[in-house]
Amino acid sequence: MRSAAATPRTAIVPAAGLGTRFLPVTKTVPKELLPVVDTPGIELVAAEAAEAGAQRLVIITSEGKDSVVAHFIDDRELERTLAERGKHDMLEKVRRAAALITVESVVQPEPLGLGHAVSCAEAVLGEDEDAVAVLLPDDLVLPTGVLQTMSDVRAQTGGSVLCAIEVPQQEISAYGVFDVDGVRTDHDTTVLRVTGMVEKPAPHRAPSPFAAAGRYILDRAIFDALRRVAPGAGGEVQLTDAIAWLIGQGHPVHAVVHRGARHDLGNPGGYLKAAIDMALRREDYGPDLRRWLIDRLHSEETHAP
Ligand code: UTP
Repeated sequence: MRSAAATPRTAIVPAAGLGTRFLPVTKTVPKELLPVVDTPGIELVAAEAAEAGAQRLVIITSEGKDSVVAHFIDDRELERTLAERGKHDMLEKVRRAAALITVESVVQPEPLGLGHAVSCAEAVLGEDEDAVAVLLPDDLVLPTGVLQTMSDVRAQTGGSVLCAIEVPQQEISAYGVFDVDGVRTDHDTTVLRVTGMVEKPAPHRAPSPFAAAGRYILDRAIFDALRRVAPGAGGEVQLTDAIAWLIGQGHPVHAVVHRGARHDLGNPGGYLKAAIDMALRREDYGPDLRRWLIDRLHSEETHAP
């Protein structure tokens, strides 16, 4: 798999959820702005989309979450002050988000589910766009690069291409799990042919060890599918129901297996692991944090009852 096919022009980032697993902080701070070391999750996904070749980010927001989009707007006053004070490293950090990619926003009036959030982006798509990328800002997928591989797979298979991670059986009940009827590996890329999905199965009922991670390249047919699927509990429209509908219509759906780290930034436990993982990779914070963690864990073992 070496072709470097074009990634869809538009990357949709749904960010209109309530973030209840992260209360109380999400009462006033959108979870997409919580810092992973010093950079908000929304900037990390914007950088990932830009790196893969997407040209614009469509952020789905809700009333009161304007600060998520504000992160991508130049702050001339702050930039002038930093420049005057000679703080060039800081200036570079402040300018980074706005320079990454063109950002637009669409308001989801009510939190009616991930599928509904994605459907809100249809109104701003160009007629010639036959596919979109969707990146969930809750999911940190490291190292980056899987979106490009997914685009390459789509160039061969057509249809829609999702992202999978392999999960140990004892953890599988926390995930949406793929039902798969074919696995092939080509130049280190494992591709699954997806026939369905089971949400949070009991370990012995999981149809495969492959769980969905929050990266999608979706054929434009997804918008038609989203209109057709009935809302589930709480009036929510699920993206997985629309994908299942497409599979039922014979639409090809594949998944690329991501070999690397995946963190769930949407809950405090996953977020902490992500922050530590990212900090350990950095030259400025990594060495000191590593020493401190070793000491901290050692003293815990020594003083354990
Ligand atoms: P989640 O269910 O993980 O996010 O949705 P949430 O609803 O914010 O979190 P909890 O469960 O209350 O803690 C996955 C992604 O879909 C977005 C979320 O912002 C998140 O990025 N989403 C979800 C929407 O944009 N709109 C919705 O109606 C629901």
